[in-house]
Amino acid sequence: MQTDNSVVRRGDFALRPVQFADAPLLLCWRNAPRVRQTMYSTRLIGEAEHHAWLKRELDSSQSRHFLFSCAEQAVGYACLTDIRNEHRRCTWGFNLGDSVQPRGTGSRMLFLLAEVAFDQLQLDKLWAEVLDFNVASLRVHARLGFQEEGQLLRHVHRPDGVFDVVRLALFAGQWQAMRSALREKLFYD
Ligand SMILES: CC(C)(COP(=O)(O)OP(=O)(O)OC[C@H]1O[C@@H](n2cnc3c(N)ncnc32)[C@H](O)[C@@H]1OP(=O)(O)O)[C@@H](O)C(=O)NCCC(=O)NCCS
Repeated sequence: MQTDNSVVRRGDFALRPVQFADAPLLLCWRNAPRVRQTMYSTRLIGEAEHHAWLKRELDSSQSRHFLFSCAEQAVGYACLTDIRNEHRRCTWGFNLGDSVQPRGTGSRMLFLLAEVAFDQLQLDKLWAEVLDFNVASLRVHARLGFQEEGQLLRHVHRPDGVFDVVRLALFAGQWQAMRSALREKLFYD
């Protein structure tokens, strides 16, 4: 993996820090029905709210936001948030954009992001919360080595129902043990 000017790159794939100029693209992806339906809130986000959120997040030392590209085309967004150096943990969030991408794209994006969390930031724990019907997200987490920590029952009330949430975690030791084999599989198969 190469890193230059905060860009994390492997072959044709790269994660680069989000800039404020990316706001329209991120909002378009965030408001797409296939992304909204995986979120705790399914409402449409307005431009002013999105801009205020992005500005706050880009100023925060507890967050890192990235655009994921394949052959220089932006195809996804991923972030590390709630970065707690005292506890050596953070959580993450992500979505692909609106272009059709080959199977495995989400896993490649999150592989690079896990490298940021464990290698660059030297964290010990990456945790996630996933709505229990989100099979694609659960599968990606499983492929990356996440294990279930528990379920939060009737945790999210939305207009379309009440949903359970799966809590997942990946620890640095597990990541170190599996990252080489996973890297070969994801990037060179
Ligand atoms: C989650 C997301 C990033 C995954 O990206 P992706 O490119 O599909 O991921 P991958 O191809 O690496 O892996 C997805 C796996 O789920 C499977 N899958 C995808 N959609 C599925 C579905 N509706 N039902 C069952 N399996 C599904 C894929 O076949 C693949 O299986 P595999 O592990 O056997 O190959 C993408 O679906 C996305 O952007 N979803 C909307 C936002 C979102 O859910 N964010 C996370 C919130 S917690």
